[in-house]
Amino acid sequence: METQPLLELSHIRKQFGGVVAVEDFSLDLHPGEIVALVGDNGAGKSTLIKMISGVYQPTDGAIRLSGETVSFTDASEARARGIEVVYQDLALADQQPVYMNLFLGREKLMKGLPLLDRRSMVKEAQQLVEDLDVRIPSAKATIRDLSGGQRQGIAIARATHWAKQLILLDEPTAALGVAETAKVEKQIAALKERNVAILIISHSLDQVFRLSDRICVLRRGQQIGIRETAKTDKNEIVAMITGVN
Ligand SMILES: Nc1ncnc2c1ncn2[C@@H]1O[C@H](COP(=O)(O)OP(=O)(O)OP(=O)(O)O)[C@@H](O)[C@H]1O
Ligand SMILES: [Mg+2]
Repeated sequence: METQPLLELSHIRKQFGGVVAVEDFSLDLHPGEIVALVGDNGAGKSTLIKMISGVYQPTDGAIRLSGETVSFTDASEARARGIEVVYQDLALADQQPVYMNLFLGREKLMKGLPLLDRRSMVKEAQQLVEDLDVRIPSAKATIRDLSGGQRQGIAIARATHWAKQLILLDEPTAALGVAETAKVEKQIAALKERNVAILIISHSLDQVFRLSDRICVLRRGQQIGIRETAKTDKNEIVAMITGVN
């Protein structure tokens, strides 16, 4: 039985002044499905994710979520609909501690008081990073004092914790070591088990082939094609990315 797509992108286009970043892009994403978005630098991958998450509005085309046309004016509206993102630049608040970042926009308040319940946020944050094996000194550590890999771990922990419907991952393991990458890939598989739909951007074709159900190739803003991962190979994908046969 065909399920209803969670996300439908139809004929999406994004223009920045004279630059066409994404042209006529269409894709359906189903619950529990992992689609990898690949393409060289500047192909339009991050722009596409930002249109889904409400950071940018498409110049043209439609985005539907569970059949309903949506037009988010900012990322918090997408978040309210169960969409979480790990941005390429991570989008963490550098001056704030880890626990505040994990609760950004969803801070806990003391019962009946307009005061932050820091104790309970710290406690939950500590548990979360331990569960996900993100090695940081403490949930109270300030983001700017963490390493690149630790920051990436925090951004991923936040997104995987809150994602209910859809998670958009822009190079989530680019700064991670081998062991940490393996852990993140396990988390992604667990999200799939929870029926969350996943769109992942990665320059690692090994990772793309390990994780994805389908692979979508972009080249200079153009959608080159979509392949079922089980029915293609690296040679075909590389040829699609580069345009060289
Ligand atoms: N805010 C912006 N203003 C103007 N041009 C932009 C903006 N964002 C992206 N672009 C342009 O759109 C094109 C696509 O950029 P995008 O960041 O989506 O590429 P990408 O596929 O994510 O590349 P990378 O693999 O390097 O991250 C590029 O030519 C880029 O210069
Ligand atoms: Mg990018």
